[in-house]
Amino acid sequence: MGKRAIITIDGPAGAGKSTVGRRLAQSLDYLYLDSGSLYRAVAWQSLRRGLDLDDPGVMGEFLPSFKPEIKADGAGFHLFIDGREVREEIRTPEVSRGASMVAKLPMVRRWVKEHLRWLARNGGVVADGRDQGTAVFPEAGFKFYLDAALRTRALRRLQDWRQNNDPPSLEEVMRDVEARDRQDETRDEAPLKVPPGAVVVDTTDLNVEQVVERCLAEIRSLG
Ligand code: C5P
Repeated sequence: MGKRAIITIDGPAGAGKSTVGRRLAQSLDYLYLDSGSLYRAVAWQSLRRGLDLDDPGVMGEFLPSFKPEIKADGAGFHLFIDGREVREEIRTPEVSRGASMVAKLPMVRRWVKEHLRWLARNGGVVADGRDQGTAVFPEAGFKFYLDAALRTRALRRLQDWRQNNDPPSLEEVMRDVEARDRQDETRDEAPLKVPPGAVVVDTTDLNVEQVVERCLAEIRSLG
């Protein structure tokens, strides 16, 4: 394959994008770009400041001054806000819902897109999200769309809470994931959909290695 390509991985929550994306980036020695983290960071900082996430005027004032430090490599995508790395705090259900709210605002989508395109200016990236192959990198050399049954995706999300003393029930997580899917698929701005030309992989019955192998095989055959 041509060196320093752009590879996109889109799909709904829990489809396996971030795990697969990181593995792919590592095996190709590319940068891994986690677009969802940027939406989460916007939501987290706005919530901390008590801002109304639904108000474009309020968000328009906040966004230009929000400058998280971003460090991306093959192993991960790290965000530092006010000098401190944010990790689990941007993964809570509250921040997930907040991320889906701010993700509806065109100005926030533009802000995220500009950061991602700057990080990908030299190619050599695996970008994971909901609109990477459609709106952010329509010119990408390789596009994947991962999907899986709702129950499987909710079970994977539940795994993320296994250390938590008070994990939500499977039904709660299923409702949450479904609501987020609906919001992501029906918004006006860059809705979640299969990008034209993307290879669709149903990961319901596949483990991470199998999905990564499948993607690498596609890349080798197309490249
Ligand atoms: O992927 P993750 O669960 O971290 O994304 C959080 C939320 O950010 C998603 O539910 C979606 O609303 C939004 N998002 C988006 N476009 C992306 C990545 C994430 O709208 N490219």
